[in-house]
Amino acid sequence: MKVALGSDHVGFEMKKVVRAHLEAKGYECVDYGSNSPDRCDYPVYGERVGRAVAGGECELGVLICGTGIGISLAANRVPGIRAAVCSEPYSAQMTRQHNNANIIAFGARVVGEGTALSIVDAFFGAEFEGGRHAERVALLEAIERN
Ligand code: RB5
Repeated sequence: MKVALGSDHVGFEMKKVVRAHLEAKGYECVDYGSNSPDRCDYPVYGERVGRAVAGGECELGVLICGTGIGISLAANRVPGIRAAVCSEPYSAQMTRQHNNANIIAFGARVVGEGTALSIVDAFFGAEFEGGRHAERVALLEAIERN
């Protein structure tokens, strides 16, 4: 599976750790920046990853900024994106199973590396359950269309 990674300067170091972790598990990662710890703007990277996932270049995405919030807000402005900010693994698993989230986001100033990797494992280890949840995701998509 191809995974899109993105961060701002705050998430830059954690993105490297996440990439190594995912690659060790056999995922192919595409890094959409940022590419240095120099100050930059999270909307740029949230949008890039959002477009990569919505456009089908990558199946799922991981976004990291200080809180995970700003960068997920940017991604969620791309039609077709369901980016969820999670600070613990249970929510990461559930957002994949129930919301069919296609991007997981978290904050490098909120969670440590161990928790970040548990969040990633929970998200990538889960699958969308469909059924009644698909109907609800369809309602979300209707909001987007209207
Ligand atoms: C950068 O200082 C910070 O605002 C950013 O990383 C993020 O937390 C925004 O939501």
